[in-house]
Amino acid sequence: MNYRAIKGTKDILPSESSRWQFVEQTIRDVFHRFNYKEIRTPIFETTALFARSIGELTDIVGKEMYTFQDRSGDSVTLRPEETASVMRSYIQNNLGEAQPLVKVYYIGPMFRQERPQAGRLRQFHQFGAEATGSPTAETDAEIIALAIEIYRRLGITDYSLKINSVGDEECRPRYKEILRNELLKIAEKLSPESQRRIEQNPMRVLDSKDERDLELTAAMPLIVDYLNEECAAHFEKVKSLLTAYGIPFTVDGRLVRGLDYYTKTAFEITSTELGSQDALAGGGRYDLLVKELGGRSTPSVGFAAGMERLMMILEKKQFQAPQQNPKIFLACADESAREWVLRTTMHLRSNGISAECDLLSRSLKAQMKEADRQNAKYVIVVGSKELANGKVLLKDLSNHTHQEVQLDTLQELIQ
Ligand code: HAM
Repeated sequence: MNYRAIKGTKDILPSESSRWQFVEQTIRDVFHRFNYKEIRTPIFETTALFARSIGELTDIVGKEMYTFQDRSGDSVTLRPEETASVMRSYIQNNLGEAQPLVKVYYIGPMFRQERPQAGRLRQFHQFGAEATGSPTAETDAEIIALAIEIYRRLGITDYSLKINSVGDEECRPRYKEILRNELLKIAEKLSPESQRRIEQNPMRVLDSKDERDLELTAAMPLIVDYLNEECAAHFEKVKSLLTAYGIPFTVDGRLVRGLDYYTKTAFEITSTELGSQDALAGGGRYDLLVKELGGRSTPSVGFAAGMERLMMILEKKQFQAPQQNPKIFLACADESAREWVLRTTMHLRSNGISAECDLLSRSLKAQMKEADRQNAKYVIVVGSKELANGKVLLKDLSNHTHQEVQLDTLQELIQ
């Protein structure tokens, strides 16, 4: 074969799509219960939007974005995440004008050119939510509770929630300076990646994947101990609300996250059911982003979660989505009934019943086999005799019973 899907991309096949649809529907349902409304933003945006929002020095912007020049020479990027797009849309469409707190959600594909492995793709799907216009800890706690509720609804309980506060523009620079000075003392022992980060983003050193880095930095000062009064009080409130909601969590003073826009609360939900890519979801507060993008200063908080990683866990648990099989298969016994079968199939479909018939002029035996393969609940066989009598045998394939029914009552019987 000449063509294959691009490395790191995946087809969601018909055999999997009913599970995807069911899960997406459950997710939408939870979002609606929390009164979040859907937003759909374009799949590509100007490159500068992501570079500015996520941060020039992050892995995403530095190494992973699908960036290209379009035919007019403009630099555009396939979205690696949607928070930046949502904030762009919030500003451009003045969404804050109509209401003080704007709560939106999204589900869709994102693109990052990472090294593909289990749970890590180049085109993957996220669902996420953003609450824009509220500085309160109550909003952070709602966003976290919303993410947790989605996993609960899907029967996933073996996750852990880690939270941290990364401070604000007042206390973070002070802490960073203290940390930088400590890191410089052991700089030459750190991995090259961490050495590079000391100057520009020392907090990421604490989040290093390198075991030796982690050992060396085990006793480093943590930001939670350097928060100013406001950030500390905010963090305490988030924690006490999570406790009040019955949501277990641990404080992880090393949690930094790979995007630069966070202030105060940062969190991650991980699962031991996943391999090395164990993050199911991540998010936090980003009070400076809207202003950074040219809007009025507007505090925000949100999260995003990976669909494929969620699907991996559900698959492991052999989660079954409701099947989408035809309710009835109308088999044709002879040529004289063909038009009736086609017409009635269309009629049933128009009346809300999923119905199927043969389009390949197959023998009756082959049609019956097909009805079975399609897992249709009912099957009828219609020929000239049935049409003349106005009666047909309605077979229930799910329990192998049958009854004689009037053709004109068929629809009511299988409704
Ligand atoms: P993120 O941590 O970069 O945050 O991504 C969120 C989730 O997307 C991850 O926890 C993971 O489940 C999934 N994910 C990320 N990259 C991949 C990949 N290459 N393959 C498969 N799944 C992946 C954000 O994107 C932020 N926008 C979250 C946020 C929203 N913060 C505030 N609002």
